[in-house]
Amino acid sequence: MCGVFGYIGGPRAASIVLEGLRKLEYRGYDSFGIAALGKTLHVAKRQGRIPEEGFDIRGLAGNAAIGHTRWATHGVPNDTNAHPHLDCTGKIAVVHNGVIENFAVLKRQLQERGHRFLSDTDTEVIAHLIEEVYEGDLPAAVNAVLPALEGSYAILALAKGDKRIVAARNRSTLVIGIGDDALFAASDMTPILEHTRRMVVLEDGDVATLAPASVCITNGGAPVDREEEIVQWSVEDVRKGGFRHFMLKEIFDQPAVFSEAVRALRNEELPGIIRDAGRVTIVACGTSYHAALVFRYLLEEKCRVPARVEPASEFRYYPPPLEGLVIGISQSGETADTLTALQMAKARACPTLAIVNVVGSSITRLADASLFMNAGPEISVAATKSFVAELAVFLHLVDVLKGGACAYELDSAHLAIEEALLLDLTPAVACCRDATDIFFVGRGPFYPIALEGALKMKETSYIHAEGYAAGELKHGPFALLSPETPVVAICVPGETYGVMASNIREMKARGTPLIVLGQKDDRDMQEISDVFIPLPFAESIAGLLSATVIMQLLAYHTADALGRDIDRPRNLAKSVTVE
Ligand code: F6R
Repeated sequence: MCGVFGYIGGPRAASIVLEGLRKLEYRGYDSFGIAALGKTLHVAKRQGRIPEEGFDIRGLAGNAAIGHTRWATHGVPNDTNAHPHLDCTGKIAVVHNGVIENFAVLKRQLQERGHRFLSDTDTEVIAHLIEEVYEGDLPAAVNAVLPALEGSYAILALAKGDKRIVAARNRSTLVIGIGDDALFAASDMTPILEHTRRMVVLEDGDVATLAPASVCITNGGAPVDREEEIVQWSVEDVRKGGFRHFMLKEIFDQPAVFSEAVRALRNEELPGIIRDAGRVTIVACGTSYHAALVFRYLLEEKCRVPARVEPASEFRYYPPPLEGLVIGISQSGETADTLTALQMAKARACPTLAIVNVVGSSITRLADASLFMNAGPEISVAATKSFVAELAVFLHLVDVLKGGACAYELDSAHLAIEEALLLDLTPAVACCRDATDIFFVGRGPFYPIALEGALKMKETSYIHAEGYAAGELKHGPFALLSPETPVVAICVPGETYGVMASNIREMKARGTPLIVLGQKDDRDMQEISDVFIPLPFAESIAGLLSATVIMQLLAYHTADALGRDIDRPRNLAKSVTVE
């Protein structure tokens, strides 16, 4: 996600901010920029990463500066869309983390009043709104503008002629750091920690005015006291939000990721090509491929749209006869096999849709239309929150195609994720950690969840794990079942409950340690299993999400118990840009 950092104090403001932006790099970004205020206001910004050397900030003199690392949401990553953004006069500079949900309306109104926009971002409206009311008092101008903004923001603003930084927060973290002779404002504590451990966390609606030697916080125009904290965390602790690994942080981010994906999509027009799709082919790799398999069940069962799912690496060399819409699903938007598969689909004149997390990535540039997951940057190599965001996108599509059929799930599924996060998996981890092989089984849409559970287990813990459609075990893999081979089985109410229960009994007869994910009050499964994990909301689509979270946590804690390098498993890369 984007990061903001501001500094006011000594004369090296721009270089302190540039160093601070480097500390925010872990949040993921595609461009960066700085505005510094001395006698005049100077801006430097650029697409790409902050170079080790060669980014010239000598022109950025002044003792106040604000900076930004951008993770594109509105407009592709390029120099123009990078923050800071300026008003028409070039006297006001703004950086922003969050989303201004009503920016399109505001932009139209501002254009009608003669404002010229340079970027495609939502943020630029803030600079122009401030311009309209600025009369030499920046805090007053920012306070006057905030009621017009709907959405989330951590904003930092500078104005030529006003020697202060103004910071404002709504639903997006903003921390003020208090040094001996300097003040800081940032999206999190990371860039502040090396300067001071004295911090104040702003609350929603707060506006902080940072002058060289004083900070004043108001809310709704009235001064407020916010408690100062002395932070003891290390920089590394803060980067992971207190979690020991990014994977765990990203798993815990999922209730918010799900809700944010849904919120963002509901504000968008669905591309016509999906509404008109009579037949769909989906291409993806790895975790995104497993998500695509869930999508197929949803499309076929709920919308009666025939769907075919192909691993992109196979599709490339053995393309099926193509007809209808081709959808590529990719967190990174850079996976070579998925990109090539979409190129081939285009060459065969099929309409193409990308479902992607990274805005401006290669796959989005290629496809006819794109939908975004809005999951924020995924740092851990093992994909977790992007899978949940992908499911949110699919549910939204089905909901639109079927006139509100999934509205309840879209509004409530984050609760199932939250409940799953609270489960104690210690007995299940004890059962897995000494195993050399583990099977994961499910039926219907829970079969891809089993595949994903096995993938998470093998890539993070290095324990050999296989996902199977439960009925397939007896066609060969049964030969491997033994008291040393745990099976993780998902057994939910519904049409296949009876047959799944029989499969589980057959496994039990082979002495297999059984970890069963089932409905809370399922006595039979509680008795037969060695470890029973109650699935929050087992019966509904929310069960898919809670089972996913349990699989992720089981893999994570097993890998942790084994001391693995969880965020960077051996031999793996986050973005696979080679075939
Ligand atoms: C597994 C994992 C990979 C990716 C795969 C596709 O945890 O991360 O299997 O899912 O490399 O990546 P994207 O979705 O970026 O195309």
